[in-house]
Amino acid sequence: MDQATQTAWLARSLRHLEAGTTDQGEAVTRIDVARYTSAEFMALETNRVFRRLPIAAGFSAKLAKPGDFITHQHLGLPLLLVRGRDGGINAFLNVCRHRGARLVAAREGCDKRSFSCPYHAWTYDTDGRLLSLPHEADFGALDKAAHGLVRLPAAEAFGIIFVLPQRDAATPDLDAFLGPLKRDMEGFGLGRHVVYDEREIGLRCNWKVVIEGGLETYHVRHAHSRTIAPMFLDNVSVMERFAPHARLYFTKREARKLKGQALDGLNVRDFGNPLYFFFPNLIVLVQPDHATVMITHPACTDSCIIQGAALIPEPPQSDKARQHWDRNVKIFWDALDEDFQMGQSIQAGFASGANDHITFGRFEHPCGWFHAALDEAMQE
Ligand code: FES
Ligand SMILES: [Fe+2]
Repeated sequence: MDQATQTAWLARSLRHLEAGTTDQGEAVTRIDVARYTSAEFMALETNRVFRRLPIAAGFSAKLAKPGDFITHQHLGLPLLLVRGRDGGINAFLNVCRHRGARLVAAREGCDKRSFSCPYHAWTYDTDGRLLSLPHEADFGALDKAAHGLVRLPAAEAFGIIFVLPQRDAATPDLDAFLGPLKRDMEGFGLGRHVVYDEREIGLRCNWKVVIEGGLETYHVRHAHSRTIAPMFLDNVSVMERFAPHARLYFTKREARKLKGQALDGLNVRDFGNPLYFFFPNLIVLVQPDHATVMITHPACTDSCIIQGAALIPEPPQSDKARQHWDRNVKIFWDALDEDFQMGQSIQAGFASGANDHITFGRFEHPCGWFHAALDEAMQE
């Protein structure tokens, strides 16, 4: 991110620290609980948001070489992501075109030249072309070119693979979709990082509850008192809207020593954590020497799947390096686990009927932005 923004963020944090304030939104937001419990609302989200936008679906570093692949169902579709021979990313429905069996059962693998269906061995190359089928002559004049794997549009940015889960749509224009924040992210160099400690976590709460936990720091002092709270200033954050996305800055206690100092040339990563939220469900927390990524996929109204990983600059070469990353990653996931437990308790609370709405205060306003973005996306 540019130096002027970094300096401005630090100056703003110091002003807040002095005045005992934080960034605030215009208004308190009330949100209906039905948005977290209604199957109809969830169906609208699925059809109008999660099938229409580029959705983060994996990490480029997992598909470093041609023939490397991953599979999952997190987008509600059986997905096969594979690095093509030309170095591009191929996203396919992981479904055989003969009679529809799942083509690839393995969750990941490398260096494949082709994928052979376990049912009758129809075989496809990494670009999805149907290469061969046993007893081909008995299928008459089968048009092999028309029986390649069904492709979904996909593109990559800053080490994340985005898939538009809608066949026949155009390749997503990530410059347009991600906007100016894409350049910030590219500046962090995450596209050259490697994946460390990938995790998949199922939670019993609506996906939005997880997102909201990342969009405010009001809770940090209390919910994270045993983990990360001592590292951060209490409720001092910078919050900037780049609708439908946002970037936030959670200021650490180290920033106190900057009082009265020149701020030019300082790196914000040394004094707090920038957090990037890309609508609808991608959060990247930028730490001093790495980043942690959390993609929250809706499953049902009251459940979701987290696809998470740390992105670190290079594979650890020594025990000492491994211990460093293990320690860092543990701090992150320990704190996240506190958020997850809270999120599950919130969902149980919704089910109790105690609240028909919830309230986001003025310094929880990125949560309001998030819901506004959702409303807008659902209307289009
Ligand atoms: S279903 Fe795949 S080869 Fe028959
Ligand atoms: Fe948290």
